[in-house]
Order: sequence, then structure tokens, then C-alpha cells
Amino acid sequence: MLELSFGTVGSGLVRHVPMDSTRLPLLRTLPAMHEVTIKVRLDGPYKVSGPVKLVDHEGDEIPMPEDDKGRDTIVLCRCGHSATKPFCDQSHKRVGFRS
Ligand code: FES
Repeated sequence: MLELSFGTVGSGLVRHVPMDSTRLPLLRTLPAMHEVTIKVRLDGPYKVSGPVKLVDHEGDEIPMPEDDKGRDTIVLCRCGHSATKPFCDQSHKRVGFRS
């Protein structure tokens, strides 16, 4: 019998789950235990921090902008005026987006 331990950093949540080898394939279906934060910036975009995968309406992965590759933060347009949707290109400043 195996014992699985997992948790999230900073949350204080730690669990110990006794497992046998017949249940190991279930591990592949468990969500990653990383924290993602979405910050709504005043009069600006959504700042998404953490390990995320961005996909389009068909489920195909949207590649990260060249400047953001390797980083764990992306900035998504909230104003609807970006020329690089879904990413923010700072157009919100030009159009005077307020929210
Ligand atoms: S929020 Fe920045 S371009 Fe739309």
C-alpha cells in the first residue's frame, strides 16, 4: 500500500490518502495543486498569475506572446480593443477604458 500526500503552499491544506496500486491511474485525473490568481486591474486588463493553459473555443492551445514565454503571468484584454486578443496590448489606455 502506498500513501499519497499532497497540499497547496500557503493554504495549510495537507492530506494523506492511503492508496493501493489499482488506484494510481486516478492520479492522472487530479487537478494540479497550484494556485492561480486573477487580478482585475483598475481601468485595465486581467492579470493572470500561476500555471495556466490558455485555449481557444475549440480547445486548441493559444501560444503565449514571445515576450511572455517562460513566465507564469499573462495579461488578458478586458476592454475589447486589443489588436492581440486575448492578450492586452495596452490599447485600453488609448481608448480611455474605465471600469
Ligand atoms: S485591457 Fe488592455 S488592451 Fe484591452
